[in-house]
Amino acid sequence: MRIIVILALGVLAIGAAFLLFSPNVIRGSGPIAATNLSEEELIARGEYLTVAGNCASCHTTSDGEFMAGGLSFATPFGTLYSTNITPDPETGIGNWSDWDFLNSMRHGVRPNGEHLYPAFPYTSFTKVPNEDIAAMFAYLRSIPPIKKDARTNELSFPFNMRALLGAWKVFYFDQGEFEFIKEESAEWNRGAYLVEGLAHCSACHTPRNFLGAELARQHMSGGEYFDRVGSGSFRSWAAPNLTPSKRGLGLWPQSALEDYLKTARNDFLESFGPMNEVIMNSTRYLSGNDITAMATYLKSLPIIDEREGVMPDSELMGRGRTIYNLHCGTCHLPTGEGDPEMAPRLNAGSLVVQAENPASMINAILYSPETPGHPLTPRWREAMEEFQYLLDDEEVAAVTSYIRNSWSNRAGLVSSEQVALQR
Ligand code: HEC
Ligand code: HEC
Ligand code: HEC
Repeated sequence: MRIIVILALGVLAIGAAFLLFSPNVIRGSGPIAATNLSEEELIARGEYLTVAGNCASCHTTSDGEFMAGGLSFATPFGTLYSTNITPDPETGIGNWSDWDFLNSMRHGVRPNGEHLYPAFPYTSFTKVPNEDIAAMFAYLRSIPPIKKDARTNELSFPFNMRALLGAWKVFYFDQGEFEFIKEESAEWNRGAYLVEGLAHCSACHTPRNFLGAELARQHMSGGEYFDRVGSGSFRSWAAPNLTPSKRGLGLWPQSALEDYLKTARNDFLESFGPMNEVIMNSTRYLSGNDITAMATYLKSLPIIDEREGVMPDSELMGRGRTIYNLHCGTCHLPTGEGDPEMAPRLNAGSLVVQAENPASMINAILYSPETPGHPLTPRWREAMEEFQYLLDDEEVAAVTSYIRNSWSNRAGLVSSEQVALQR
């Protein structure tokens, strides 16, 4: 840990030299974008875009008022809280101008010039063009104002110093509107804008460096994200490879990806874990054209392959198979083919099962995969058990290794230490 802090300070010190070039607050005059929409049309458009950006999942707590903030984010640097983005003039953004809002989305700065933490995914939102930002602001101004102060962040030194984010930005923040690529179709461009901008898929699906910045060269090849498991405590989750590799999105035809984003289920499986909120609060409300555009773009990404895993020996496979047949085969079937009423197939099509990082698969087994729930009609007759009470770390490692290396799966073995980390 100490070495990380020293490295961090070193990088930030060099960065501080460039601080002068870091983005300043821009205060233009007049509106940020011309529009010929009526106020009503502008608000409706803003609402659609706000849903596409999934602002509510991060700015609304499960028992709190809409967009009033207070959700906690566990990071390696401490805990951060989302803020109140209702139009309350004192505790929300009621006193902000269009330009203030533009500055937060495009440049990650507050009206007083303070830098914002990239847990607010402005590294993606920076791509949103002015007219969409104007529409979103019109919508946010139209929702009920709530008086609620933001909670104070609990970050460790030096990460609690917002000024240092200026240096971070010099290295890691590529700001600017999405640029249309002429060689690609209008559909592809729309998809690229949504996936890389508003929908910020890379915030979870791209690995990050020790300062929390996305690694551009491994874009969308699988990241890690802290979120709650069934029991309510935080665990790491693996967000699998969204490039079309054989163990990533290459497992699904484009139609399966569209079904998944639109309905939270497809021929292979049903969503669970952190994707439930992404789909249920955001992507399922998007138009068919937008979903097709996003899927078209994702399927066109350059392939980044997973590292090959270590194959389990026949003893481990044997132990795993016995546990599988005893505890899992009744629903998932001994062939791994699943059953339309009992459980999804595990023999093909799960990016989670094939992911290099087994964290999400282990979470599903220990804490049971939480289904997306209401208003979807339940797909399965009964929920999967929480195997944390039935199997010890070695048994979970054996059955996980067995599934990951049976049938057409080739994802490598999982150790009992990896299971212990998720417990
Ligand atoms: C992944 C979670 C996440 C998502 C998604 C998200 N935010 Fe945030 N947002 C945060 C966090 C955390 C902060 C606080 C950052 C800080 O303290 O520096 C924040 C801060 C902000 C701020 C700055 C408020 C202030 O008081 O300075 C604005 C404005 C904002 N968000 C708007 C939005 C909008 C609009 C969307 C949707 C397009 C959105 N956010 C989506 C997590 C999120
Ligand atoms: C808040 C973090 C987060 C965001 C944002 C996010 N994902 Fe995910 N995604 C995950 C995690 C974690 C998993 C693995 C566990 C699960 O399915 O919830 C996952 C799994 C997936 C899977 C594989 C599902 C399976 O069961 O094999 C697909 C496909 C996917 N995400 C697509 C997307 C797309 C497209 C976007 C952008 C619209 C997106 N994700 C945004 C965290 C995220
Ligand atoms: C009672 C039936 C049942 C049993 C027994 C069962 N499961 Fe499941 N399993 C399910 C259901 C239902 C889902 C889908 C939940 C969802 O879609 O949200 C699921 C999903 C999963 C997933 C996530 C697949 C994906 O990517 O979407 C994994 C991994 C898994 N089960 C492993 C196991 C293992 C390992 C065992 C035995 C130790 C087991 N299951 C026993 C019903 C069962």
